[in-house]
Amino acid sequence: MKKSVTLMLAVGVAFLFAVTCIYAGTKAEDTFKMETKEYAKHTKGLVEFTHKKHIDTHKVTCGQCHHDDKGKALELKEGDDVQKCVTCHKETGKAPEGEKLAKKEKIVKYHKEALHANCIDCHKESNKKAGDPKGKGPAPTSCNDCHPKAAK
Ligand code: HEC
Ligand code: HEC
Ligand code: HEC
Ligand code: HEC
Repeated sequence: MKKSVTLMLAVGVAFLFAVTCIYAGTKAEDTFKMETKEYAKHTKGLVEFTHKKHIDTHKVTCGQCHHDDKGKALELKEGDDVQKCVTCHKETGKAPEGEKLAKKEKIVKYHKEALHANCIDCHKESNKKAGDPKGKGPAPTSCNDCHPKAAK
């Protein structure tokens, strides 16, 4: 009897573990640090991103941030698979000397440009709508508001 209880427990734990593993790829944490591994090194403090709060409180739709390989907004629901931004906005190094790209081309090529355009452009817009003509607050737009100085 004792043995079979132990066995059942072991099977249960293994099952839970497997489910967690499968689930992990398709569920975003409520809040997480943006730390794209492809960067050789992060030169700025890691940004704490309130994913769930953006959806629930700030009322941003999935497709305002997640899109397909043509840039077309995705209609997602909880549990859908999502590609990392770096899958397409691949470049995490420095621009080569003398490179001249239009703003849009930079965004498509460089991960940092894509993230900044997505996050900061909306924050400026939303701050303007909230009544700040310069677009500075309350949504964060300055480097240190997003990248904490000390954190590494
Ligand atoms: C304000 C922008 C924004 C909104 C709104 C948003 N997301 Fe995200 N989401 C992100 C960013 C940024 C990441 C991190 C991607 C990365 O690391 O490349 C992410 C990550 C994820 C991940 C995890 C991907 C992984 O491999 O770890 C899932 C799943 C996800 N989002 C689903 C959704 C769904 C579903 C919605 C709508 C209900 C949504 N997101 C709304 C920006 C957003
Ligand atoms: C499957 C590939 C793919 C993924 C994944 C992807 N992008 Fe893009 N993104 C593109 C392409 C392609 C364009 C250019 C679309 C166009 O030409 O209008 C683009 C355009 C953009 C733009 C510019 C929009 C505009 O109209 O100026 C921003 C900002 C952006 N992406 C941010 C992100 C962020 C943030 C993520 C992750 C949450 C992400 N992208 C994930 C392929 C991708
Ligand atoms: C489409 C609009 C939109 C996009 C895209 C967006 N945000 Fe926001 N964000 C907001 C709004 C609205 C607020 C709340 C401003 C306020 O307090 O009134 C906010 C607030 C924040 C805050 C303050 C904490 C909080 O949740 O209240 C942080 C940090 C933040 N955003 C980070 C990011 C990052 C990082 C990205 C890109 C990955 C991003 N945001 C993309 C609209 C957006
Ligand atoms: C709205 C939030 C936000 C603001 C404001 C912001 N960033 Fe970022 N930044 C991000 C996010 C998100 C990433 C992507 C980090 C990742 O995925 O690893 C990033 C990436 C970077 C990177 C590449 C990664 C690294 O640490 O080396 C640099 C450099 C950077 N930002 C510099 C700046 C500077 C300089 C400013 C001010 C002019 C600034 N950022 C303002 C959100 C922000």
